Amino acid sequence: MLVKGAGISFDLSEDHLMIQDMVRKFAEKEVSPGAGERDRSMEFPRDICSKLGELGLMGVNTPTEYGGAGMDSISYAIIIEELSRACASTGVVAAVQNTLAQLPLYRFGTEELKRKYLPDLAAGKKIGAYCLTEPSSGSDAGSLQTMAQKNGDFYFLNGQKLFVTNGMAADFFIVYATIDKSKGNKGISAFVVERTFPGFKIVRKEEMLGVRASGTAQIAFENCRVPVSNLIGEEGDGFKIALTTLDSGRISIASQAVGIAQGAYDAALKYSKERSQFGKTISNFQFVQEMLVDMITYIEAARLLVYRSSYLKDKGVPFSKEASMAKYFASTMSEKATSHALQIHGGYGYTKDYPVERFYRDARVTEIYEGTTEVQKMVIARNILGG
Ligand code: CAA
Repeated sequence: MLVKGAGISFDLSEDHLMIQDMVRKFAEKEVSPGAGERDRSMEFPRDICSKLGELGLMGVNTPTEYGGAGMDSISYAIIIEELSRACASTGVVAAVQNTLAQLPLYRFGTEELKRKYLPDLAAGKKIGAYCLTEPSSGSDAGSLQTMAQKNGDFYFLNGQKLFVTNGMAADFFIVYATIDKSKGNKGISAFVVERTFPGFKIVRKEEMLGVRASGTAQIAFENCRVPVSNLIGEEGDGFKIALTTLDSGRISIASQAVGIAQGAYDAALKYSKERSQFGKTISNFQFVQEMLVDMITYIEAARLLVYRSSYLKDKGVPFSKEASMAKYFASTMSEKATSHALQIHGGYGYTKDYPVERFYRDARVTEIYEGTTEVQKMVIARNILGG
């Protein structure tokens, strides 16, 4: 979408450059060094979350009155990119904390819910997660089966949730459940569930190909008792809350994909200038140059789509299509770019001695979570064709 009167500027503002510099330095010093080990041990980056909270990076877009930093969406995209360039797990942990856990609250929650939950989330003192996907409802999120039955002052939740990023560490969960299956997606409601509520259960930690330190969990609710005051919005608003949140979440994942690709590109560029074969560094060979050229060109194109969708979001105009375009393009690009980076490293790239194999595994999930590539294409197609 072109926005009238927007003008075009490709410069980041002084503030954006300052944030980029600050987060890059932090990530290089505090996040990058342990990334390989966390990937192996699947240890959640709890200490890093606290430090990110102290820096104001856990409630980037959350209004200042609720303890957030109240920054714009381009700042947020820069932050997720820089964290993911160092460690994709930390990138998605921060993304879920910032957007999936806090946006439903500050956009749709009561004043009481905002005051109760946002300050600790924005400070990184408590961890948040988002529970939408279930064993039999992934892309078709509107067909979810988890039930919420009201009885007096409580809703009682029963069901299972899968692939809950941050789940192993989270204190608060945004949970989507239906109060009336016969109403389809109009029966879905959103709730804040605390880990300590009776009937809340962590079933297991998922062992995944990538983003292995993201504390991704399977969760069950067995007559889980949730106070009626923890309903977000009105009964039946849940599906719209979920999809509104995912519009922004898709910008997060696009930013993460750009960051992973940039990290892989930086490593491949450096390696190509150090590794010699046939009497010269491999950066002299045109086939290697072609991979580097493709990587950086596509990375820059993806970043522009991320900035554009963020810009539209801040303008307050519809941006679903642009967020899906950014996610579709950036995640596809990231998979290819990390594959090129691994190829440039040759046999070494296939080992754990270099970080590119981690980047390669981490990039893959950006084509799956917060809506598969096929779902992004569906959203774009519906936007351009109507219906
Ligand atoms: N914002 C607000 N409302 C929206 C919307 C949006 N972006 N998109 C659609 N809606 C509304 C529609 O207007 C419609 O409302 P009405 O009935 O009042 O007209 C209603 O929602 C239903 O819309 P659709 O008929 O288009 O819904 P659908 O069932 O066909 O599904 C979909 C659309 C895009 C496929 C959606 O189901 C979807 O995005 N699926 C993917 C789910 C997903 O991304 N899951 C990821 C989970 S989070 C995760 O990955 C884990 C993690 O922790 C990182």
